[in-house]
Amino acid sequence: MRQNPSSLVVVANRLPIDDSVAPDGACEWRRSPGGLVSALHPLLRHTPATWVGWAGGTGPAPRLPAIDGVRMHCVALTAEDLRDHYEGFANATLWPLYHDAVEQPEYHRRWWEAYQRVNQRFAEAAAAVAEPGGLVWVQDYHLQLVPRLLRALRPDLRIGFFLHVPFPPPELFMQLPRRAELLRGMLGADLIGFQRAQAAHNFAQLVVKVLDLPATDRRIGVDDRVVRVGAYPVSIDTAEMAALAGRPDVTARARRLRHDLGDPQQVILSVDRMDYTKGIEQRLKAYSELLAGGDVKVRDTVLVQVAVPSRERVGQYQILRDRVEREVGRINGEFGRVGEPAIHYLTQPFDRAELAALYRVADVMAVTPLRDGMNLVAKEYVAARVDDTGALLLSEFAGAAAELEQAYLVNPHDLEGLKQMLLTALRASPDDVGDRMRAMRAHLHRHDIRAWARSYLSALDQTGSLVTRLGSTG
Ligand code: ADP
Ligand code: F6P
Repeated sequence: MRQNPSSLVVVANRLPIDDSVAPDGACEWRRSPGGLVSALHPLLRHTPATWVGWAGGTGPAPRLPAIDGVRMHCVALTAEDLRDHYEGFANATLWPLYHDAVEQPEYHRRWWEAYQRVNQRFAEAAAAVAEPGGLVWVQDYHLQLVPRLLRALRPDLRIGFFLHVPFPPPELFMQLPRRAELLRGMLGADLIGFQRAQAAHNFAQLVVKVLDLPATDRRIGVDDRVVRVGAYPVSIDTAEMAALAGRPDVTARARRLRHDLGDPQQVILSVDRMDYTKGIEQRLKAYSELLAGGDVKVRDTVLVQVAVPSRERVGQYQILRDRVEREVGRINGEFGRVGEPAIHYLTQPFDRAELAALYRVADVMAVTPLRDGMNLVAKEYVAARVDDTGALLLSEFAGAAAELEQAYLVNPHDLEGLKQMLLTALRASPDDVGDRMRAMRAHLHRHDIRAWARSYLSALDQTGSLVTRLGSTG
């Protein structure tokens, strides 16, 4: 059955829902964790749009109902596509390379073939559901070839591309055996958006160097077209998170959590996907050294580390999980007592209300990635602190640091610096904490997910009709 075409099509590797197994063994659908879904899902709610993506399994594409008015168009991946495209080229070549090569990127010709094949499939799916002259918004590093492939199939469309992760400096990107094809793929778009101005600058430099095209950080000439480039830092639904965090049941849940944690004087919280870019090991080391040195005591201070498993079949992720779990075990064994662990370690996915309660219970939120495109957890924490309390310890290498300048900023590679800044955040005066939090909350109030979408889509959609419609939803 052919569905009606859509005026707005979002193309992302992942659909906003994942299949998972319910306690009774039945298959159920739940929102997938990850920044991209957190950003786009609330935005599109009640907008007549289609989301083209993968549902997280292999085999034939399931037929999915619309969610909050957004149609789901599932792209199937075979077991080979999953291994070579998603786990291979996307997450073992591009992901580490784009995050400062904190793990060694791997290059395999078979992975590149799968990347091309899967990008072609996504481009065809988008071409099939977009209305004439419609707008297609392609997301992230899994789909960098889609803009060009889609333009070849549907020259009538306006095509946007947004990269949620960092775009690396030329000396790293130049390692890629198929660097020219990746750049050309992105240049199929009318507007290429990055999280930070530095990324747009890196991209323009590479276009000149590799493709010999005329380029500035804002405009690139390709054949007879001009491709625009810019920084559009992604955000969250600030009002939704604040409303959730202020709900009486969430406030009560936060109180209960604190009680269950042993009513400590201070709770430190970290919420991450289990990813080597998130700096989990460095943070655990800093915490463990503070315990060993007597600077923090288990009875007074607890660390809650949420680390939801991610990309579990990729070798580097398996190694990381083993190492983190061994270290948590060691720290608890060494410093915990019966009924008083030093670290409360949780790997479950939580619903939004539970996350909001965790944010409300955290006196210090430690967000210390080694490199991160944005980091929406940091923004969620700020949005949830409706009473202007709470200290955000934030890595300089998270995109969010460019906006949340009043956070306690830290270089997570500097172990002594990390320990000192964690202590500073724990010992800060309520006035200092309050002043910083108020400033960050005011920033997020103005720069929420709708402001992000408005600025990006108004640059892409010159008729402005779509932006007007998005502005009236929510
Ligand atoms: P990334 O995109 O690398 O995963 P972000 O910090 O930008 O990192 O986004 C992570 C998103 O996933 C946030 O919206 C966060 O609330 C969500 N998330 C993280 N851990 C969990 C969890 N255990 N359960 C549910 N959602 C989670
Ligand atoms: O932000 C980068 C990203 O790959 C997003 O596309 C996604 O939201 C998140 O990380 C989770 O990753 P995955 O889709 O591989 O589970």
